[in-house]
Amino acid sequence: ARKLGSKKERTLALIKPDGILKMGEIIDMILGAGLTITKAKMVALTRDQAMDFYIDHHAKPFLHDLVGLIISAPIFAIEILGDEVVSVWKKLMGPTDPSIARSEAPNSIRASFGTDETKNAVHGSDSVALAAQELELFFPSNGECGPTNTAKLTNC
Ligand code: TYD
Repeated sequence: ARKLGSKKERTLALIKPDGILKMGEIIDMILGAGLTITKAKMVALTRDQAMDFYIDHHAKPFLHDLVGLIISAPIFAIEILGDEVVSVWKKLMGPTDPSIARSEAPNSIRASFGTDETKNAVHGSDSVALAAQELELFFPSNGECGPTNTAKLTNC
């Protein structure tokens, strides 16, 4: 039964190139937390697509490393559905910096599989609104593989 006051949400999770070898364990953790995977696919981002995806980080000193990592190999994009899943998934990921994750959230994904602040295995949307925007980029709602979607990340 749904908890009173809980709210079903969707979020975008990415398993980044440095996390791909641990993909099975990460998926186990998502399902083990009682969350539902509603869509998933492997995607190879172009540099332009990665720059669009990280639009909020263009002024950051780590942009170059972050984009370099995310385009270095295919990633696994997942739509997750669950009660308050935006914050639940962020909690499951753990703090951005895996060394902080290891001391403050030892059971988190980044504590187990992260290397540093850039190579931290996974991405999660920061809000319900950003989740909708990011999901549209990876899983466009107006058709799967149509010619009108060539700018989006369908990899058809
Ligand atoms: P941010 O939204 O601050 O963290 P989170 O992923 O925990 O929501 O940053 C987004 C991504 O930017 C982060 O996952 C990896 C990258 N990043 C770096 O490469 N170096 C850094 O110092 C920070 C803060 C982030």
